[in-house]
Amino acid sequence: AVQRTFSIIKPDATKRNLTGAITAKLEEAGLRVVASKRIRLTLEQAQTFYAVHKDRPFFGELTEYMTSEPIVVQVLEGEDAIAKNREVMGATNPAEAAEGTIRKEFALSIGENSVHGSDGPDTAKEEIAYFFSGLEIVG
Ligand code: CMP
Repeated sequence: AVQRTFSIIKPDATKRNLTGAITAKLEEAGLRVVASKRIRLTLEQAQTFYAVHKDRPFFGELTEYMTSEPIVVQVLEGEDAIAKNREVMGATNPAEAAEGTIRKEFALSIGENSVHGSDGPDTAKEEIAYFFSGLEIVG
């Protein structure tokens, strides 16, 4: 079925001018960018977005990193968009990411891993609604 998922191009990637290269990989995978904006997260927004990880030892590092430079938030649409996006991103840890994936090609480390993608339909819905109003998504 046609789905929507939420994607972030992270600080390590925007800083290295990889916004276009990463977006090209997403598009080549059959995903359509139906919303996109460059923003700088506040610490409060990062803590809210990553609240599910608040008890993890890397929470402080993660939220500070996500506020360190601008990010690009996007809504991606396509057939099985959630799984397709996860496939083209590759494993969280770039050392374990498959050849040809975004993280294999661009990520620096498990923290500076260039992209985020929703892990399921419920989180996709929540994450899209956190960053975009309905009017900003044009399918
Ligand atoms: P993301 O998909 O954005 O969701 C949670 C993030 O936590 C994950 O990508 C990683 O970038 C980050 N993360 C996971 N494990 C670690 C770790 N051990 N150290 C630092 N960051 C991590």
